[in-house]
Amino acid sequence: MLSRSNIIQRFNSTSSGISSFKTAAKKSTTQATLSSYSNNGKKNVVILGSGWGGISFLQHIDESKYNVTLISPRPHFLFTPLLPSTPVGTVDEKSIIEPVVNFAVKKTKGNVSYYEAQATKINHAENTVTIKSFSHVNPFGASKNPESIKKNDSADIKYDYLISAVGAEPNTFGIPGVEKHGMFLKEIEHSPKIRKQFIENIERANLLPKGDPERKRLLTLVVVGGGPTGVETAGELQDYVDQDLKKYLPSIAEEVQIHLIEALPVILNMFESKLTSYAQKVLEQTSIKLHLKTAVSEVKETYLVAKTKVSDTESKLEEIPYGTLIWATGNKPRSIVTDLIKEIPEQEGSRRGLLVDEHLKVKGLNNVYAIGDNAVAGLAPTAQVAHQEAEYLTKVFNKNQIGSAKPFKYLHYGALAYLGAEKAIANITYGKRQLYTGGGLITFYIWRLLYLSMIISWRSRFKVMSDWFKLALFKRDFFKEL
Ligand code: FAD
Ligand code: NAI
Repeated sequence: MLSRSNIIQRFNSTSSGISSFKTAAKKSTTQATLSSYSNNGKKNVVILGSGWGGISFLQHIDESKYNVTLISPRPHFLFTPLLPSTPVGTVDEKSIIEPVVNFAVKKTKGNVSYYEAQATKINHAENTVTIKSFSHVNPFGASKNPESIKKNDSADIKYDYLISAVGAEPNTFGIPGVEKHGMFLKEIEHSPKIRKQFIENIERANLLPKGDPERKRLLTLVVVGGGPTGVETAGELQDYVDQDLKKYLPSIAEEVQIHLIEALPVILNMFESKLTSYAQKVLEQTSIKLHLKTAVSEVKETYLVAKTKVSDTESKLEEIPYGTLIWATGNKPRSIVTDLIKEIPEQEGSRRGLLVDEHLKVKGLNNVYAIGDNAVAGLAPTAQVAHQEAEYLTKVFNKNQIGSAKPFKYLHYGALAYLGAEKAIANITYGKRQLYTGGGLITFYIWRLLYLSMIISWRSRFKVMSDWFKLALFKRDFFKEL
């Protein structure tokens, strides 16, 4: 543990660009903490996470009023709505990530620091967060400053206000074999792993004779979870098979079988039944095999075990061989959140995240707020919600209305999902007012337009537009590795 130091590691607020990344160090004999900024009269706001909640908060907070510190192991923001488009190369991985520094350097009116580190514990009694560094955070001043945080070092960061936006992690429900054999699609690094496995399986299958059961297995992709992540991923994979693979390796393409397994009787259950029936029809037309009322209970190296409810009293057990398994059954709270919940009586029994009040303040604590997927505010865990919560909270902070603000009110703009084959479904709303409900090709273009407008940087927007333009002229980039 680093101690007796008071280190400022920041983006120089008077100049721009990463070259101004600067470190200053000052000895302190009284504090065993790294205190972001000392005695400049401003309160320290510490943000945990560089996702929808954390980065939206960083973008909107008035840094001339607060010292702002962002802590996240992930040095980029990820535009999750287009993540299902990346494993097959419809959109390039780099197009939908944006370095944290790109947001931080725009905050020129005050002190903004970024620690590429994981928060391991919120010490609410001491108003500190313990972090474990993921990089040498003092890259340019290390030789002059031997006490700077290095990779794997731990340190305590002091806060006056803490904004917890650490998101959530994939939930396996403890089902045996999932962690070992399944792949998730939650972070950008998951995307090339899925592509690599799919390509390797295609290559191995191509060496085997037609009719060989091993060839069939290798060409079987199973997506578990019929929520939007699972459906969009299955649709994109099928697009690749139908639009690209068919041209390179037609005999392989016609043998690829994608399965989508969902425990409930419907997929995409947040949409009205007219749209979910349409979605099911589209998936089946594109030859994705749907297994409804089917719950996966065990995963082995080459097959999974699934139980289908055939009637109220009867279930059928089935073994489904697979070559690639994508697990998309939703998320659960991270350990830093569950650890905090255990320490606060007001949070007792909360299983989905930190219970917050109508001002997004963590129940039982005075100066800790939670936004996004790690907060339980009676809303769905979506980017839309995380973004609006961050906007609300920054307004409260910027207007110095902490403790006296109006409660947070969420405005629902609806939901969209891509199904594959250039078809999407959408239910666009303005609060309770329905503006558009539909499915098909026109909805697909609406989907594209709205997603472009949701992208939070011009750089990413430009890159995504050029990826889509490129796709209209050429095939997808489908590289095993770079
Ligand atoms: P995240 O965006 O997940 O960010 C969490 C951040 O915290 C990350 O930077 C992470 O590295 C960091 N972190 C993790 N642990 C720690 C720690 N210990 N200390 C510090 N930092 C930590 N929602 C929509 O509204 N529309 C969509 O179309 C949509 N599509 C999606 C597609 C996919 C494939 C997925 C997975 C999700 C999608 N969502 C969509 C949901 C949306 O992405 C989430 O609701 C949203 O990301 C939540 O924002 P967040 O800030 O709470 O968490
Ligand atoms: P989800 O929680 O929405 O869906 C997971 C699905 O997996 C559920 O339908 C569940 O019944 C099923 N499931 C769970 N265990 C299973 C098992 N053992 N076997 C078979 N099926 C099982 O998760 P998802 O899709 O990752 O979405 C997470 C959040 O992100 C949601 O709030 C969603 O709205 C949001 N999101 C929104 C998108 C959009 O608007 N287009 C895209 C992707 C995510």
